[in-house]
Amino acid sequence: MKTDLNTIQNLILKAAENARRETADEPEPEKPKKSKWPIACTVGPGLEGAIACESKVGYVNGTKGWLVYRGYDIFDLCARSTFEEVSYLLLHGKMPNMAELTIFKEKLFNYTRINKVVRQLMGFPIEQMSVMGALRLGANLMRREYSDLDMASARPASFEAISSDEDSIAMETTPHGSNHATFEFKSRSNRKAAKSKRGFDKLSGLEDSYHLIAGISCIAAATSRLHNDKLPLEPQPDLSHAANLIYMITGKKPSPVEERVMDIALILHADHGMNASTFATMVVASTLADIYFSVGAGIAALSGPLHGGANEDVIRNLREIGSAKNVKPWVKKKLDQKKKVSGFGHRVYKAYDPRARILGPLAGLLLKEKPELNPLFEVAQELEKTVMDMFGKEKKIFPNVDFYSGLIYSSLGFDEELFTPMFAASRVSGWTARVLEYMEKNRIFRPRGLYTGEFNQMYVPIDQRK
Ligand code: CMC
Repeated sequence: MKTDLNTIQNLILKAAENARRETADEPEPEKPKKSKWPIACTVGPGLEGAIACESKVGYVNGTKGWLVYRGYDIFDLCARSTFEEVSYLLLHGKMPNMAELTIFKEKLFNYTRINKVVRQLMGFPIEQMSVMGALRLGANLMRREYSDLDMASARPASFEAISSDEDSIAMETTPHGSNHATFEFKSRSNRKAAKSKRGFDKLSGLEDSYHLIAGISCIAAATSRLHNDKLPLEPQPDLSHAANLIYMITGKKPSPVEERVMDIALILHADHGMNASTFATMVVASTLADIYFSVGAGIAALSGPLHGGANEDVIRNLREIGSAKNVKPWVKKKLDQKKKVSGFGHRVYKAYDPRARILGPLAGLLLKEKPELNPLFEVAQELEKTVMDMFGKEKKIFPNVDFYSGLIYSSLGFDEELFTPMFAASRVSGWTARVLEYMEKNRIFRPRGLYTGEFNQMYVPIDQRK
């Protein structure tokens, strides 16, 4: 049967049905109620169980295997929505109408043409940088480009100072009174307002969020092309965000099926509760550092192999295993070495991760047309079966979102180094939506540590130490 968009939709609806059936006996969550702080909760290491804030952005239920964005079920969104619509929903708290969506898409498209930032990026040794490294740097360059926070010109420079007690004639040396100078005159008419955009206001926060959503996709694609000795590509106005992402990476306009699969991958990575990168982003934002620095922290946190970096590990493991018959000894060796199997397990899910429920069958569908990747898919299926047989029932370890995503990206023609950046290109919607929400009632994050060290140590000068 030829794969078409209906096949994809049916596959998602079927996955939704399976999810509902398998977790039907698990209790329904209570209706959200108004909370009264301080909230009592039991906290484990790694802040397990800690409630850090209230949010209406998204909800994860680990026992039911639910993922919900602003009240909408992830299966429904993947079956019917688009990344643009979902990003709008996360940021604005409601589905856009046609006019709002059109404007949002136009902005996203225009902001994806960040050739200035890409040009600046090319001044750095990005050929020696991972794409995640380039994204981190790119977030800083976007900060410079789209906010006035890094701009020396946003502050009056001493040579622009016209001191009240000095002659108003430009001087070669700094005027004696410059420390007390009054900055009444702007010497450059195009200088940005000296008033800094420190802190967050909703309107500029939204604009910055659009820049970041567009920019991360664009920078990831451009960096990957440069790594392959190709020049970056401008997005095409007739393409969706997902299609442009594929186009800007591969140079080929995707088929409708490829575009839809990319769109779905973007939708289902967009938000996921207080995961490590979202929390990192919010912690930085809570200090009133700006949203570009905050997202930079999110990118850094996402890069780790326990988080978004796992999708790159998975594909390396599948290659290393090589064939289905090697799976069992490979897993045994891993566990004997007390190592975890990448792409499995989750802090919250004690049911099958709904994102993997969608990505698994989608990978199977795409790979049908890529025979060269079929052996990897077979290894993945055998690995899933083996790990679930070993742990599934007892420890409730299932494949997570990172298990099948790499296979999908491979079948779209992406290099391994792009897998985690693709996660970032999507999760940036959730990062920014949650930051903007949190900033409405910001309180700096500041948990405690449990001190287990010494007291009353006597200082011994270095030459008397043993
Ligand atoms: N392979 C083998 N055993 C596992 C795995 C795994 N992937 N995950 C959890 N376990 C075991 C773990 O050894 C522990 O066993 P025991 O109770 O006997 O000590 C038990 O399950 C609980 O695990 P944990 O490490 O306490 O769980 P955690 O909530 O601290 O960590 C996790 C969650 C995702 C970091 C972890 O499952 C893991 O390291 N997985 C592999 C990396 C991975 O796939 N990360 C992607 C996560 S999902 C998407 C994302 O956030 O990017």
